[in-house]
Amino acid sequence: MSRKLLVTSALPYANGPIHIGHLVEYLQTDIWVRFQKAMGRTCLYLCADDTHGTPVMIRARKEGITPDQLIARVHAEHLKDFTGFGIQFDNYYTTHSEENRLLSEMIYARAKAKGSIVKKTVLQAYDEQEKMWLPDRYIKGTCPRCKAENQYGDSCDVCGSHYQTVELINPVSVISGQKPVMKESTHFFFRLSDYEAQLKTFYKEGYVQASVQNKLEEWFSAGLKDWDISRDGPYFGFKIPGEKDKYFYVWLDAPIGYMASCKNYCDRNGLVFEQVWNAGEYEIYHFIGKDIMYFHALFWPAVLMSADLRRPNKLFVHGFLTVNGQKMSKSKGTFIQASTYLNHLDPQYLRYYYASKLTGDVSDIDLNFEDFINRVNADLVGKLANLASRSGPMLCKKLDGMLGRLDDEGRRLISELTAARQEIVDSYESLNFAGAIRKIASLADVCNKYVEQHQPWATIKTDPEGTRTSLTAILNAMRILTIYLKPVLPEFAAKVEQFLAVGPLAFADVDKVLEDHKINDYIRLVERVEKEKVDAMIEESKPQDAPNAAEAPAVLDEPLAPECTIEDFMKVDLRVARVTKASAVEGADKLLSLELDLGAMKKNVFAGIAKAYKPEELVGRLVVCVANLKPRKMKFGLSEGMVCAAGPGGAEVFLLNVDSGAKPGQRVH
Ligand code: 2FM
Ligand code: ZN
Repeated sequence: MSRKLLVTSALPYANGPIHIGHLVEYLQTDIWVRFQKAMGRTCLYLCADDTHGTPVMIRARKEGITPDQLIARVHAEHLKDFTGFGIQFDNYYTTHSEENRLLSEMIYARAKAKGSIVKKTVLQAYDEQEKMWLPDRYIKGTCPRCKAENQYGDSCDVCGSHYQTVELINPVSVISGQKPVMKESTHFFFRLSDYEAQLKTFYKEGYVQASVQNKLEEWFSAGLKDWDISRDGPYFGFKIPGEKDKYFYVWLDAPIGYMASCKNYCDRNGLVFEQVWNAGEYEIYHFIGKDIMYFHALFWPAVLMSADLRRPNKLFVHGFLTVNGQKMSKSKGTFIQASTYLNHLDPQYLRYYYASKLTGDVSDIDLNFEDFINRVNADLVGKLANLASRSGPMLCKKLDGMLGRLDDEGRRLISELTAARQEIVDSYESLNFAGAIRKIASLADVCNKYVEQHQPWATIKTDPEGTRTSLTAILNAMRILTIYLKPVLPEFAAKVEQFLAVGPLAFADVDKVLEDHKINDYIRLVERVEKEKVDAMIEESKPQDAPNAAEAPAVLDEPLAPECTIEDFMKVDLRVARVTKASAVEGADKLLSLELDLGAMKKNVFAGIAKAYKPEELVGRLVVCVANLKPRKMKFGLSEGMVCAAGPGGAEVFLLNVDSGAKPGQRVH
């Protein structure tokens, strides 16, 4: 019986967009899944948005919307980006689902029944102004070791030391700017050490790559610590049953989201979830980045053990992406969002380039733009697409689009290509996509040599039938190379299938030959990469005006404006207003045109917030408006007020929040 596989990629957080760093993993997984499908196996690719936790709650608050509204919008954005890159999930779900809640509760209850959940009192930072508990990343202060300012609550970026939040000097809440107080709270912990022996046996079955094994040994010798799986409200997540105002920590329910996505898929497709997940009929594989190894190598299998659920077969860990040899950087324009890439470049380039770099180990991969342009133009366009463009149009225009028969030489060329099949299959299977691409490119060299030797453009004038024979060999070779490339380049393959007039190609078709077969008009497969487009993409990825807050100097050195009196200040009439219309302003990429409802009147305002907000996010939102500002004639029309916002500029501008119960026209003090 042929194999059945369940494959997952890490669930992306629902608080931000997909960028080219994320795409290493989704493209790696998608290529592997497409390869499995092309081998005739049943393979389900499951994923979801990771929706819970403090960052989602804070971001929704900042945008003046509910977390549910935020995660619905981000879900659509993520899916659009993935689809744009040809990443094809069988199910793209959400962790904020009923299936996930029920599975999380069930797993927690089973772990508790085993005695693996313990209660402990912890000391934690609390923001009294915001009435919320602060995770370590939401507290900043001076490092207790090296005295560097502006460091996080758990570790220092300057000296690299780790410490307790209570040790931080002059701590402040990142949200309110106030000093947090330390308060006690009861939390629930998962006793990881209960599963130490079982985990060690599990690893012997080959759960992780050899290079990850060392990391596990380090963790074991440091000792397995109890894991805090609860958070106090307010928190966007699932409530812990039977407890007051306690929630499951996002990292508990996130991997359970893999199961929930599977359950949802099964229910919608007439499969029995328990059978699919638990019975061993399907092999289960997780693809992740090396930053989240601890969660997937230790916690996740241990949590499954505590609930007597089957464990995945293997964890595939990849490294990070660097761009031009360095960490992605907003100011250099190398922190490139998926949607920005798609505004400028063909997604097939990145699929091809990443594939040519991925070897299946945990080392980082580098996207060097010069190399990217050269490799795509030289190999993908120059060697592979060129083979088709030198043969397909000629057969159609000069020889009625009819393939003939292979001669001995043609058969020898084809058998050289078919002989490479097992090597390419093995490379894909072991995630050595770089090896597969290298082999395919070397086969394309052999084919191009055949073209050079036969010179169909010359022989067509004197020997049309001989030319038909050589074009038949070239197009059959193209067909085989396309099968080999199809997991990486599905769009390219679809075009070849269309012009060769063949059905969807799979690895089993490698041995077939196309003879006496009519093909369709040639379709261009892929264009050359233009450097100008790469440059434009980098330019669009740079902060537009003020540098990004995270990279800006911490000290404000602008001189103060002249003093104003309280009387001057009191002249400003601030009112609540509702945004009734919002649109981009042509010719002004920083401005949005807003129509504001102030109860008794309407006003049109031009606001410099286009880098921070999309027009559709604003309609319906309550804002604070300077209602008595003297109207100003601008190049684009009359601006009759001003909306209040704070921040350094660019994307870092935050509209002031207004209580959702406020009425338009109401005065703000
Ligand atoms: O690191 C991350 O981006 C997480 N959102 C990955 C979660 S993977 C799984 F556990 F859900
Ligand atoms: Zn330090």
